[in-house]
Amino acid sequence: MTINHPNFGALDENRVIIFDTTLRDGEQSPGFSMNIDEKLRMAETLAELGVDVLEAGFPIASVGDFDSVHRIAEAIRGPVITGLARSGREDILRAAEAIKPAERRRIHTFISTSALHMKYKLRMEPEAVLAAVTNSVTLARNFTDDVEWSAEDGSRTDPEFLRRCVEAAIKAGATTINIPDTVGYAVPEDMARIFDDIRNNVPGADSVILSTHCHNDLGLAVANTLAAVAAGARQIECTINGIGERAGNAALEEVAMAIRTRPDIAPYTHNIVTQKILRTSRMLATITGFDVQPNKAIVGRNAFAHESGIHQDGVLKNAATYEIMTPESVGWQKTSLVMGKHSGRAAFRDKLSALGYGDLGDNALNDAFRRFKDLADRKKIVYDDDIVALVDDEVMRDHQRIKFIDLELWAGSKHKPRALLDLEIDGEKHSAEAHGDGPVDATFNAIRTLFPHEAELRLFSVGAVTEGTDAQAKCSVRLEESGKLVDGQGADTDTIVAAARAYIHALNKLLVKRIRTEPAALSA
Ligand code: KIV
Ligand code: ZN
Repeated sequence: MTINHPNFGALDENRVIIFDTTLRDGEQSPGFSMNIDEKLRMAETLAELGVDVLEAGFPIASVGDFDSVHRIAEAIRGPVITGLARSGREDILRAAEAIKPAERRRIHTFISTSALHMKYKLRMEPEAVLAAVTNSVTLARNFTDDVEWSAEDGSRTDPEFLRRCVEAAIKAGATTINIPDTVGYAVPEDMARIFDDIRNNVPGADSVILSTHCHNDLGLAVANTLAAVAAGARQIECTINGIGERAGNAALEEVAMAIRTRPDIAPYTHNIVTQKILRTSRMLATITGFDVQPNKAIVGRNAFAHESGIHQDGVLKNAATYEIMTPESVGWQKTSLVMGKHSGRAAFRDKLSALGYGDLGDNALNDAFRRFKDLADRKKIVYDDDIVALVDDEVMRDHQRIKFIDLELWAGSKHKPRALLDLEIDGEKHSAEAHGDGPVDATFNAIRTLFPHEAELRLFSVGAVTEGTDAQAKCSVRLEESGKLVDGQGADTDTIVAAARAYIHALNKLLVKRIRTEPAALSA
């Protein structure tokens, strides 16, 4: 049956709506928060990518969240703009206000439906939850004809109760029904069963869009999403690079390319401009400070790299031997091959600017160019990522303004811990003494005394590289400055020295990050 949707009109039965929640669920990943300008830039990029629905935030969560949803609703044209709301009146009014300026808008309201969540999280009886479903959707419909209702922890909900909730939401006027696998517990068979059940047994289910929202706790988010679509879901909720709560959400780039690459088993259509995938992925990585891992499907730097001779030979003869999609179809460009030993300094400078580097300064540029020439003499093909690695390393070395020299500590149960630290800063030795609540705190205070900065310590963790009391300690430090995050690592047989090294490593990275330009030039 063709669905007539308030914002999309008549939808072909195989058309899949791509609902991007990078700026809401994605932003809930630890350390991934973005400021308003960053969200706005990301929203523009997502609109160019062709997402159908853009979940811009959770307006009741904070003034900042409200403002960014409102700004996105004012500025972004193309996708339907939505804001998340729990079932309470205040949430829904706030979401309605935030999305008001949007050309096309949706309210997305949710409540938990599993026995576990109702009992322990909501402390509500099932009948009260059912009433909240009806009331929240009815209220939301006063502000827009496009209302999505989600059953939080839907995949672990009793099927009979889930059917009753879905029916209530449809009766109250919901136009999209989303069944999330909130905790990433489902396997593809579960998703197929849930969507089949709703489609076949809930009155009115054929008049709304069914939606899937899968988390990746078992690494099954994309597989579960595709199983849900095969069973009738026609909206996919996903995020760029798969970011999101805990292990993340289904990765937009992976579901979009699975559908494009396998029309034989996934004969669906979507509006993603796949050539813009890499650029969007890099934009997000630059804004958040978190790169994707090299082997990440579609957007990792190894996704189209062929290491073994046999594979390289095959690809040179016919790329289809080892490539199931073309690199260009997701935004990798052939031009990434053009730099070579004959390229001059001006071309190198242009390339750096296209890769997102601003003014490196003459010294760093000259050193990087010299290293590039060395590399080009040894390596037939110099890829963009070779250049990125080389320049990052060069900039990092050039900007290792802070070096660890020595640390002495006095600690124990009787005295307040004291650290005496020597650092080399910009080539000169400096010393400082500081106290703290513990030896690590005293050491970090000494670093802050020697190199004052505004960055906040967001995470500190200690692990052992090997077993035994003589093992090396491995410390990680995460710093945040103006919404940008950096992680530093340090290892030493002395845990506190490892902690100091990790902090200094993060600080040096932060200084490098400051000189990297805005990502407008990051077209792949
Ligand atoms: O994972 C989840 O259940 C959610 C809902 C709020 C849609 O993110
Ligand atoms: Zn979620």
